[in-house]
Amino acid sequence: MKGYLSACFHCNNTAKFAKTKIFELHGLLDLVEIIAVNSNKSIVTRRILPLPPNNYQDKIQQMFNKRVKIKELLAQEPNNQATGSSEEVTVMGWVRTFRNNQFIALNDGSTNNNLQVVIELGKFDDEFLKRITTSAALKATGIIIPSMGKGQKLELKATDIEILGDSDAEKYPLQPKRHSLEFLREIAHLRFRTNTFGSVFRVRHALAYAVHKFYNDKGFVYMHTPVITGSDAEGAGELFKVTTLPFDNTPRNDDGSINFKEDFFGRATNLTVSGQLEGESGATAFGDIYTFGPTFRAENSNTARHLAEFWMIEPEMAFYDLEDNMNLAEEFIKYIIKYAMDNNREDMDFLAQRLAEEEKQLPQDKRSELGLIEKLEFVLNNNFERLTYTEAIDILRESNHNKKKKFQYPITGWGMDLQSEHERYLVEKHFKKPVILSNYPKEIKAFYMRQNDDGKTVAAMDILAPGIGEIVGGSQREERLDKLEQRMKEMNVPVEEMWWYLDTRRYGTVPHAGFGLGFERMVQFVTGMTNIRDVIAFPRTPKSAEF
Ligand code: 4AD
Ligand code: MG
Repeated sequence: MKGYLSACFHCNNTAKFAKTKIFELHGLLDLVEIIAVNSNKSIVTRRILPLPPNNYQDKIQQMFNKRVKIKELLAQEPNNQATGSSEEVTVMGWVRTFRNNQFIALNDGSTNNNLQVVIELGKFDDEFLKRITTSAALKATGIIIPSMGKGQKLELKATDIEILGDSDAEKYPLQPKRHSLEFLREIAHLRFRTNTFGSVFRVRHALAYAVHKFYNDKGFVYMHTPVITGSDAEGAGELFKVTTLPFDNTPRNDDGSINFKEDFFGRATNLTVSGQLEGESGATAFGDIYTFGPTFRAENSNTARHLAEFWMIEPEMAFYDLEDNMNLAEEFIKYIIKYAMDNNREDMDFLAQRLAEEEKQLPQDKRSELGLIEKLEFVLNNNFERLTYTEAIDILRESNHNKKKKFQYPITGWGMDLQSEHERYLVEKHFKKPVILSNYPKEIKAFYMRQNDDGKTVAAMDILAPGIGEIVGGSQREERLDKLEQRMKEMNVPVEEMWWYLDTRRYGTVPHAGFGLGFERMVQFVTGMTNIRDVIAFPRTPKSAEF
């Protein structure tokens, strides 16, 4: 097919269609061939007749895809333009249910609300109707009319239905009933077709979009930091190695250690645990940057809050101190929550209802005091509680919970690392709101954090969220070269290998700060999903990387 439509044969409008390969106009399909291009650049075309065979025309009409999304259709009032008029619309989607050989509930993923497609009795033969099964893909054309049925304002009276893809009802694993989240995890490739996951992933999308909008509007530069790196930013050693060395006959040095000079990159490499260190080099040029990318940690934590592959947002700001950092993080979290509440209300209401029903199964004392929407509104309308690690330890030590020995890890005193049960006690029982803890003991934090004058603590800050625990980890960075080098040596971080990182302190060092927000934990917080595996499309966790 070498034809381009350069002019409409019905109205002779040339300019608009100069690049259109084939075009359907005025309900007619025109295929044309370019014969010549004139010196004034107008194109001389010849209409190809006869039109191609029927099945080919069908294909072309699908390509033109004039489909209307169900969300848009349902947003219309029954008495406006498309409704009540005889204008035809085409929708495409997957069958959720089919009743009485007449009513199809069609879903196209734009919303949880199905469009009722009504088939005129007797219009299609039985063989055809049998193919309208749950999850069959179809194209329905018809006229929008006000609905007599309950629960919807509009429906589509079908004049034509085409099955785009059959679905074997006997084998299709999703039935129109409630399935457990555990079961759905085993068919993660199909679970998007349920209402719960439809809502979760549309909200996830909205949150991701809001992340970019927030930073873009503030003039931050989005930086793509590498996925493969030679550094262990967090120094926690939870690295996935990246290598092309063979498992047998691995090249060795004289001392028996692996010779990474023979490896693909000529050095040992791993998947990134954080883009921060590269981000710092960006911040010391652009001022404000952020990263938003996949992050990998080989920590063997099989919990409802840990993934081996997750997404992290890491802003890094020159000329920021710890307090600026906390202010930005709080504003950021509130902004993206509000964005989802304002723009995805339907999905948010659905998720709130889902959570309320799920919690009905729990004993009274395990249920949340606030519903999902109320919780998020509360977060938006109140300041996060800010206190130091030292103050937190005092509260925990004096708590009845501790005195009654209800913590699995008792509060042994200043210096101990906080466990998730301690963090959750602070946010859920004591303050009942998000908390920003700051100035942690330097021993339990990373090498890059700015050392406070007390010689014991660093300018760290973690944000803890109800139901989740730690959602943000960040700090003001150590910008003083001598102090940084000294701390790296103390913590066995290879100073020579990090020459490039230290250069940011050698050439125009500035006070700067940043943080990392775990995106899935944020999605959990906003959607109310209790397991992190249910807010990422294809979760990677210990012993599990299906799909
Ligand atoms: O506290 P973390 O380890 O901080 C950093 O990586 C810093 N480099 C960030 C920075 O300052 N630029 O991780 C940040 C956040 C955590 O608070 C948590 O929300 C999330 O990342 N996170 C995980 N989320 C899911 N699964 C895991 N295994 C996670 N580990 C951390
Ligand atoms: Mg942390």
